Amino acid sequence: DPVYLNGQFLPLAEARVSPLDRGFLYGDGVYEVIPVYSRRPFRMAEHLARLQATLAGIHLGNPLPLAEWQKIVERLVEQAPWDDQSIYLQVTRGADDKRDHAFPPASVPATVFAFASPLVTPSPAVRAAGVAAITVTDQRWARCDLKVISLLANVLARQQAVELGCAEALLIRDSYVKEGAASNVFVVKDGLLLAPPKTQLMLPGITYDVILELAAQHQQPLEVREIAEAELRTADEVWMTSSTKEVLAITTLDGKPVGNGKPGPLGVRMWQWYQDFKN
Ligand code: PDD
Repeated sequence: DPVYLNGQFLPLAEARVSPLDRGFLYGDGVYEVIPVYSRRPFRMAEHLARLQATLAGIHLGNPLPLAEWQKIVERLVEQAPWDDQSIYLQVTRGADDKRDHAFPPASVPATVFAFASPLVTPSPAVRAAGVAAITVTDQRWARCDLKVISLLANVLARQQAVELGCAEALLIRDSYVKEGAASNVFVVKDGLLLAPPKTQLMLPGITYDVILELAAQHQQPLEVREIAEAELRTADEVWMTSSTKEVLAITTLDGKPVGNGKPGPLGVRMWQWYQDFKN
């Protein structure tokens, strides 16, 4: 299937990027992941707005107008063989002819890459059981609100989880849980839904926004505030949310059951609301 690279659609095997690309040398770039359901991109405008915000946050001009991004996404969706897809977009600060930390001259074009892959959401069996997670110290930088490709701390946290047979690592900073290595986190206690606030220490998830909207729509009591590690450990329900995981119950945390160890009723309802909403 063709991928998009710097203005061209071409087979993946023919796509070439310079080894001096700043994405490769410095992790100097940004990305997005847009879910596609039945060949319809979900919340594309919001994803492209976050891409724009991240580009602004790293002082990189958007190389393409919004309409051009939309066309690229639509063409990738059309050409891919799957109905449900995940569209990956990446922009890096391009390749200069020398290595220097400071930005290259304005004449160096950004590198733009995009491709489609099949969207694999959690199976009914995984959803029914929930997944296991660990907690780790959040070792990321202080601009976690930017969706940048420098993901080493996230990579190491997720790998630690996987080596312990877990699906996700929840990141604790100053005794508050901020999010997962590649997901946002929600907690339920005594019927109250808790969500960490959007600060520079958390990625503003597009799915997170949908969850807040669905909670409001269904009169679900909600508090957006910092969640202490102790509250996480005594929660009735813990969920992870993302464009690829949707709403997924975490039923084991650091080897101990969350609540009764089964996906809780609000998480099950929220997943159903999400299904109704996305279709
Ligand atoms: N990750 N927090 C982090 C650190 C993430 O990487 C992601 C998404 C989220 C959830 O954001 P959204 O609901 O917009 O997908 C939260 C994507 C899926 C990824 O890196 O593959």
